[in-house]
Amino acid sequence: MLLLSIETSCDETAAAVVRDGREILSSVISSQISIHAAYGGVVPEIASRKHLESLSPVINQAIGDAGVKMEVIEGIAVTRGPGLSGALLVGFSAAKAIAAARQIPFVGIHHIEGHLFAPFLEQKIDFPFLALVVSGGHTHLYHVENFGEYKTLGKTIDDAAGEAFDKCAKIMGMPYPGGVLIDRMAQSGNPEAVRLPRPLLRDGTLNFSFSGLKTAVMQHIEKNPISKSGKEADDLCASFQKAVCDVLSAKTEAAILHTGTNRLVVAGGVACNSGLRSRMLELCKQMKVELYIPQPSLCGDNAAMIAVPGDYYLSNGFASSQSLDVTASWDMDSIREFTK
Ligand code: KG4
Ligand code: ZN
Repeated sequence: MLLLSIETSCDETAAAVVRDGREILSSVISSQISIHAAYGGVVPEIASRKHLESLSPVINQAIGDAGVKMEVIEGIAVTRGPGLSGALLVGFSAAKAIAAARQIPFVGIHHIEGHLFAPFLEQKIDFPFLALVVSGGHTHLYHVENFGEYKTLGKTIDDAAGEAFDKCAKIMGMPYPGGVLIDRMAQSGNPEAVRLPRPLLRDGTLNFSFSGLKTAVMQHIEKNPISKSGKEADDLCASFQKAVCDVLSAKTEAAILHTGTNRLVVAGGVACNSGLRSRMLELCKQMKVELYIPQPSLCGDNAAMIAVPGDYYLSNGFASSQSLDVTASWDMDSIREFTK
């Protein structure tokens, strides 16, 4: 199928045209990050208004870049949740309106389902596989049996990994979102310089906890005031990043042993992190597991990833009805009943 896909769950207005859930004909992302940076985080009201302003031009550009006409689009895949309700409503309403006007089907997709299947845009992956999803709102280990069949093996009990990166950066006086800045500074720092905790490292579960790490960084800075840049800041970034990667790597290793899988997908914005990418490569090499991490442009929020499960659902008759609404929170384990 030739799909138009739309993503407006947070601070990126995105649209893409994707053939058969595999081939990206176009992918347009309009980021609001510079607008929200002034407030130190995403302001929901501003996000909704910006989506409203940007969505039509972004869709038109996606159609134009793909070199097709709207008339040949056979279906629409759109993020239904989780995310900011007002932001989701902008993309979801547009998808419903285009589908109704053109009399084509549309399907509401779980945002994390999009992240999970982003690597399918680069290569074929057989089921089942283990997935580590690390983003601004999620840190989850899933056992993926098929499209729509997900079992949560473990998840964060407080902050998500991306949230921890952004909060640590904020404590250090960096602008939002600071994850990428920590990554950059960590490359010149000594990861052994500052002793930080590894929360829940050996608790026997596959759950994560990152809020204590943020508190430890805060306490370290109170005792050892540092400037925003320089050797000490680089060392703190490197130590923090190593602590996060140690926990993500140990829990992923435990999940590999628990499931006996030989395929691992790592997805979500934090999968851009250079430290995490090399740790996952190392782990998979050592455990003889096939690793799939999308290129950085497919790790962060984009609409092309939404078209992958979208194509599966629409091709198999799982279209959504016009009465379906967005949802700010949505459990991946019970996804199929809601997709209908
Ligand atoms: O998946 P994503 O784009 O949006 C959500 O669904 O949340 O993830 C955004 C998160 C932010 O917290 C951002 O700081 C983090 O991903 N991030 C990174 C890096 N690039 C993005 N964190 C660490 N290192 C990076 N290079
Ligand atoms: Zn995301």
